[in-house]
Amino acid sequence: MRISLSEGSWDKSTADIVAIAVASGKTKLGRTFGRIEAVTGRGSIKPLAADERFEGKRTQTLKVAAGGKAKARWLLLVGIGDEKNAEKIAWKMGHAVSSRARSLKSAAVELPEVSPESVRAASQGLVSGSYRYAEYKSDKAAGAALGSAVILGAPKGTRGLSTAVRAGKAIAESVNFARDLVNAPPNDLNPLTLARAATREAKKLGISCRVWNKARIEKEGMNLFLAVNKGSAIEPRMIHVVYKPTRPKKKVVFVGKGLTFDAGGLCIKPAGSMVDMKCDMAGSATTLGIVFAAARLKLPIEVHAVVGSTENMTGAKAYRPGDIYKSLEGKTVEVINTDAEGRLVLADVLTWAARKLKPDYMIDHATLTGACMVALGPYRAALYTDDDKLASAYLDAAGAEGESFWRMPLDGELRAMLKSPIADMKHVGGRYGGSITAALFLQEFTEETTWMHLDIAGPAFLDRAHRRMPKGGTGFGVATGVRFLEGLS
Ligand code: BES
Ligand code: MN
Ligand code: ZN
Repeated sequence: MRISLSEGSWDKSTADIVAIAVASGKTKLGRTFGRIEAVTGRGSIKPLAADERFEGKRTQTLKVAAGGKAKARWLLLVGIGDEKNAEKIAWKMGHAVSSRARSLKSAAVELPEVSPESVRAASQGLVSGSYRYAEYKSDKAAGAALGSAVILGAPKGTRGLSTAVRAGKAIAESVNFARDLVNAPPNDLNPLTLARAATREAKKLGISCRVWNKARIEKEGMNLFLAVNKGSAIEPRMIHVVYKPTRPKKKVVFVGKGLTFDAGGLCIKPAGSMVDMKCDMAGSATTLGIVFAAARLKLPIEVHAVVGSTENMTGAKAYRPGDIYKSLEGKTVEVINTDAEGRLVLADVLTWAARKLKPDYMIDHATLTGACMVALGPYRAALYTDDDKLASAYLDAAGAEGESFWRMPLDGELRAMLKSPIADMKHVGGRYGGSITAALFLQEFTEETTWMHLDIAGPAFLDRAHRRMPKGGTGFGVATGVRFLEGLS
């Protein structure tokens, strides 16, 4: 999408559709309506608004034909309720107009307040709202999206505004990149094609992407990762993308769970739980989205994305409950339930990343446990770390991006649940505290690194749109991760 800045106000705009913010409350509502009526000369909007129950509340929008002295074809009244935060309003307006545009080609947005922050948020919202996944629709119109947008009231030369447009676009494009990967069907997106997609994007941005095949992963001794792959007809891949600026202030490694399909292995899932399991590589999509955004924004932070990718299937060579494997870290692990495969893949990748990359922070994203959704519902991710500063910086970043996390305890008292009578550890605790014991298992493989685990099982993939997230793959975590990195610089 082309996004430009213009000094003009909405009544002069020739865009197909113009977004206007409408606050709730009788006086404010009346004032906005009056202004629109004066320009369009179309008589009172009140009866229409009343009929559509439009009161300027946060979730409401109202599309009205323009006409009169207005040059635009449509006006989109975007309810903002009593929201005061200019960034939040701007994101919402951008998102509302591009998600509602359908067959329209051009839009304009009149922000109540123009600043680099609000322009960036509006651009981010515009690109995010234009997201469609129509790759497999024969009707190409299904993928139609807004071609161009203008942010009004923003004189072109104003300092920082063009940079803000580019930043907002870059972040949302990275979010959309992650959404595309998650939405891709698992017969087409497998560990090999995921690696290819990462390689292609890295090449475009001029950054490094190394891919390890099965032989290389074997040579490294990542036996937990390899165990999960045994039941699959497709080789595993480890994908390592690096963005390294000239004088990095910090080094952050993101690790992602890349299960391109999780059938559960021999502990096979029931059909109803398996149907969306193409989403089990969402952690890897988020991880890649973050490193690519960091490169697009040229952040002064060294950022790595390390992804462990395989399927979890039921082939004749599949790993079994009762099997014992020696991890890269050195501990032996007794397999209890082959459907708890994510933690096995991540354990070896975390050890490798901690030892070889020695980051300041190591952060993993994973659709790790159903228990996490039992605890927090579908829209919120769990955040685990022993580092209070890291936790609060991350929660702040999430708040600014409208994404929800909740800090959960790395409760040492539950560690006993991972004791095995026959190996150094077992990889599953009990039914209770399932998200916590999964995090505790991972922690055993992080060496001395400052580490954070984000269980995104809920918000990574949704069966209905919610807040900033679309139905299907959401790209959850990309925007927060990028904002966190910006806070380090
Ligand atoms: N990928 C699943 C977790 C998941 C569930 C993600 C629903 C997204 C939506 C994970 O590999 C899994 O199967 N976890 C098991 C662990 C159990 C066997 C200890 C679970 O949560 O049931
Ligand atoms: Mn599983
Ligand atoms: Zn899984």
